[in-house]
Amino acid sequence: MCGIMGYIGGQEPTKIILDGLAKHEYRGYDSAGIAVINHGKIEEIRTVGRVKNLAERVAEAGLRGEFGIGHTRWATHGGVTENNAHPHVSNDNRVVVVHNGIIENAREIRDELEDKGVCFHSETDTESAVQYLGYVYDGNPKEAIVKLTGRIRGAFALVIMFADKKEIWVCRKGSPLVVGHAGNAGFCASDATALLEFTHDVWFMDDDEMARITPAGCEFFDFAGRPHAKETMHLDWNAAMTNRGSYPHFMLKEIHEQPDVMTHTLLGRVASGKIDLSSELPWTAEDVKKFRKIHFVACGTSHYATMTAAQIWETFGSFENRCEVASEYRYRNIPADESTLCIFVSQSGETADTLHAARLAKSKGAECLVITNVRGSTIHREVGNALITPAGPEIGVAATKTFTAQITVLVLLGMYIAKLKGELLPETETRLASALMDIPAKLAEILKQEHDIEHIAREFADARGFFFLGRTLSYPPALEGALKLKEISYMHAEAYPAGEMKHGPIALLDKELPVVALIPKNDMWEKTISNIEESMARKSPVIAIAAEGDQAILQYTRSVIYTPVTEPELYPFLQVIPLQLFAYYVARQRGCDIDMPRNLAKSVTVE
Ligand code: M6R
Repeated sequence: MCGIMGYIGGQEPTKIILDGLAKHEYRGYDSAGIAVINHGKIEEIRTVGRVKNLAERVAEAGLRGEFGIGHTRWATHGGVTENNAHPHVSNDNRVVVVHNGIIENAREIRDELEDKGVCFHSETDTESAVQYLGYVYDGNPKEAIVKLTGRIRGAFALVIMFADKKEIWVCRKGSPLVVGHAGNAGFCASDATALLEFTHDVWFMDDDEMARITPAGCEFFDFAGRPHAKETMHLDWNAAMTNRGSYPHFMLKEIHEQPDVMTHTLLGRVASGKIDLSSELPWTAEDVKKFRKIHFVACGTSHYATMTAAQIWETFGSFENRCEVASEYRYRNIPADESTLCIFVSQSGETADTLHAARLAKSKGAECLVITNVRGSTIHREVGNALITPAGPEIGVAATKTFTAQITVLVLLGMYIAKLKGELLPETETRLASALMDIPAKLAEILKQEHDIEHIAREFADARGFFFLGRTLSYPPALEGALKLKEISYMHAEAYPAGEMKHGPIALLDKELPVVALIPKNDMWEKTISNIEESMARKSPVIAIAAEGDQAILQYTRSVIYTPVTEPELYPFLQVIPLQLFAYYVARQRGCDIDMPRNLAKSVTVE
């Protein structure tokens, strides 16, 4: 949700912090702030709006310091005002804090401190932490933080400076935080991508852990203040991956990366027509036979990736699958036990609901596996068993390339399990493995139609809303297409299994409500055509995502985006790029802020 950056070292800190905040902006962008320590005094600037506004204010004011911390906010407690922006400073000007998360008992702490005469100046939960620290701090930062972490409840990544100490303190429970050290400089950030230009060896903070960062190094403690050693994790991303290059938006860059991403995702996992995940997964044939039920658990796009894959799995194996959104899974009494394989999918590996669902499944004795794009993320560390989607950093708030990487990994996983169970026919393995290897080139073909897709998107950018229709394997990609459009263009879009329309939603159709119909060349083609006819009879314009060579579709609509032909099970791989580009160009036509859509943040680390 919010983004944090901290720096202590030999250089003037404001530029490093502002650059770091800009890299975090996709996590939150309603207000931003920075604080530095300058000759034992806290100096801070906060502003509503983007990091660039903050940078202007910092330049105007000539803010300089020895070390500092910064924050870009996604409001939870308290409106979007300068006063609620972080950092927050204690009344006695001795302590300054930035925070990501939610302090659940903030009201209680505030009441208690107000009774003791402490004044509050913002509506935020964070202020309860900084005023509490100000109240208990007696010159020993570690002791003050031990007291604080014993007093607050909820989720927090807190970064703290004490005006009289040349050090930065961090503590974490439930919200991501990463620490790094290079030469004579120490860093902390919400997201490891912000540290890549300084170091590739980082420490991911664990829950109930705090650290002291100085130019000389980093020390780690538990919440009782006891020191412990901690291993670094090596990051295989590079700093260039976090640049937009010549693309106008990260989303467009990331859409275009998909052929390469898919190639990397297949690399080492498919060879000579065979799937092999044995170097990544510990399971034997005996182990997988125990998995009588499979639970896929995720949120948003990751959830739609699981829905897509679960249907593909059905085509080659006998799986008892269920796909659940994590925010429901964690609160329902869904039976899971030692015979259940729970697969958690999360691009960021930090989504609070998915993480809590994983903890629940583990506590029930289920076998757990995570599919994530971020090696070393919280869910990766907690679950252990993992398949990494090597998509590289995804910065656009709307997930694109990671969807493709997720469905690739998930399909390989299903084939691998089916193979271990003895269910995957050798000819099916060879046929799908070779078709998967051909998909990256087909994705590149689709990208060549970008201008045609842009043209169609412009034509429909003023519609009242959209329906996305697909049947069986095309229904989950329809959901993903509708989500993309909602997120970045703010247009109402709904996805339905096409056959369900006549049970109610068809009442909404008219000439101002176009239908995007996913109609690959498979055994549902004729039935989907009937649904297209039903829509046209209500005067809805139809945009079809069809397979190359399908001339018949032109009798129904001239707005057709063709995908290359593939194996019937694999059309979802090809349907999604046209939908991503369609959403992108509708949003662009409508002048929306594509990489940072309103109200959204890239990773949702609070409930
Ligand atoms: O990082 P995760 O995959 O766990 O995130 C899940 C969702 O928050 C995410 O997919 C969200 O729906 C995206 N904005 C979709 O574009």
